[in-house]
Amino acid sequence: MSTVPRACVIGWPIEHSRSPLIHGFWLKSYGIEGSYTKQAVHTDDIEAFLLNIAGHGFVGANVTVPHKRVAFSLADHREPSAVAVGAANTLWLDDGHLCAENTDTFGFMTYLGLKAPRWRELDGPVVILGAGGAARAIAFGFLEAGVSDVYILNRTRERADSLAAHFSGRVKTYDWQARNTAAEGASVLVNTTTLGMSGMPEIDIDLADMPAGGVIADIVYSPLETELLSRARKIGLVTVDGLGMLLHQAVPGFERWFGVRPRVTPELRNLVVEDLRSLKS
Ligand code: ATR
Repeated sequence: MSTVPRACVIGWPIEHSRSPLIHGFWLKSYGIEGSYTKQAVHTDDIEAFLLNIAGHGFVGANVTVPHKRVAFSLADHREPSAVAVGAANTLWLDDGHLCAENTDTFGFMTYLGLKAPRWRELDGPVVILGAGGAARAIAFGFLEAGVSDVYILNRTRERADSLAAHFSGRVKTYDWQARNTAAEGASVLVNTTTLGMSGMPEIDIDLADMPAGGVIADIVYSPLETELLSRARKIGLVTVDGLGMLLHQAVPGFERWFGVRPRVTPELRNLVVEDLRSLKS
């Protein structure tokens, strides 16, 4: 039997996933014998698949839409990151036990630290737009970093409120209509909604009164520079794109499966940028 480690990304659909490109780049760069492939698994089959990852020949996997919650619930062991978000995107086996982690928090906070290293020095709340899984992961990151004022604004207020309840009221929620006022005093403003993604409307928010040195982060990475980031850059705010989060969230999984902590390099970033560009043309 081959001992070459194999990992995969599991989703439905899965064609769009950039993860094989990222992990394939690292496998090649570090000269590791192993593989990382796409696995299209339907909702009807996901439970059986995840409970028999080893039987399918894998040492672990990334999990994407729509399976992140079921992956979390089936795991024998859950890292605090997965518990905080209530969803898992990274799985591995430890002595036959299925272990789950959520690396979105790590991915976002690592890249924020690299692109906006002074974000903690700014006064004012952190404002998060949106209340889906990504908003949860990012809110957890700021809470863990010790930020006392985290505000969530979402079109559907109830989803924001349920996110706040999940964090025992440690984040505050406001109506979506209050976004301009919230932006005025924000130290960091993060878009986790799908607004600004190719094919979606732009996000309607006024950035003119954000404090000097304020940070705007967008988790949308297609386009790479969203209209929100472009406006922010033009008025001198610090911008953090969504591609960095995508690249950095892949690091912990690769290390667990293949035993090397990989680096996010300009070469890797260029490779993914080119791939995104080629899809558009
Ligand atoms: P994920 O879990 O990947 O973070 P999601 O659950 O699909 O993403 O969430 C998408 C986010 O974009 C939600 O916060 C959604 O708001 P609702 O909860 O009200 O649906 C937000 N969103 C999508 N379209 C929007 C729009 N036209 N205006 C404002 N917010 C929008």
